[in-house]
Amino acid sequence: MSGLKVFSGSSHPSLASEICDALGIPLGRSHTVRFSNENLKVKIEENVREEDVFVVQTACPPLSENILELLIMLDALKHASARRVTAVLPYFPYARSDKKDEPRISITARLMADLLGAAGADRVLTMDLHSPQIQGFFTIPADHLTGVPVICDHLRKNDLSNSVVVAADVGEAKDAGRFARRLDLPIAFIDKRRSGDDENPRAVAVIGDIREKDCLLVDDEIATGGTMFSATEFLLAQGARSVSAAVVHPVLSGRAHEKLAHSALGRLVATNTIPIPAEKMTSKIEVLSIAQLIATAITRIHDGRSVSELFV
Ligand code: R5P
Repeated sequence: MSGLKVFSGSSHPSLASEICDALGIPLGRSHTVRFSNENLKVKIEENVREEDVFVVQTACPPLSENILELLIMLDALKHASARRVTAVLPYFPYARSDKKDEPRISITARLMADLLGAAGADRVLTMDLHSPQIQGFFTIPADHLTGVPVICDHLRKNDLSNSVVVAADVGEAKDAGRFARRLDLPIAFIDKRRSGDDENPRAVAVIGDIREKDCLLVDDEIATGGTMFSATEFLLAQGARSVSAAVVHPVLSGRAHEKLAHSALGRLVATNTIPIPAEKMTSKIEVLSIAQLIATAITRIHDGRSVSELFV
């Protein structure tokens, strides 16, 4: 594929390599050095002049350092005369900070969008934003992919005749609708209440028929797991036969993996937008790759073809 190069930040090199394999190109060579004063230096180790360059970096720990590394890479590529630079963020940083719902707070997702443009990104490619309105934060073109079809293709291999899709909270209703349509299943909604990130979310009601059903809880991400575990207990207490879950982003913060291992949740299907460290993997987690999807989107962007056509 001429004129196309893909580089990887430090956050998820295995995904970047998989994307390159799917594209049939070698991963671009770059090197990040962390000095004793904690400053980072990125060196692009091959010519990128007039190239169409994509940089893969996802939002995972160490988050601030990964964000900064991406910004420095974008700057280095721009100043190395790349023709166009696209930041590929499978999981967008600070996506949950998307509104001013308290006085004197930052809308940090918008700040992230500004920083990417200021550092030299000409475009952004991201996936399953916490709220689709974040797309409006960008002054540069932003392509928004979804991992829902990848997950549904996988789920369809199972017997779903007794299943119902359950939105883990009403804010997730639209995405849950996408799951339900693709899987041709009925839908139900959990009413979840919480007031802050630290307060455990509680499922307080379910709207829809879940009695004796195999519930498939869906959400954009699992972070502390509070939403999923509370919903699982609630659904089982309300008469569900079993509960499993599907999310695009397996954030699995803190001890979520341990809680998952001990919860009544049967299995968790997720994608590899975020790497799951080996110590957090449990036999309940199934990880599906979105590398081919991203590679196809990169090819289309490179060729000037529609990206939205991928999801019709
Ligand atoms: C919330 O609005 C999101 O859609 C998820 O439900 C939330 O991010 C999950 O977080 P946790 O796993 O910490 O409950």
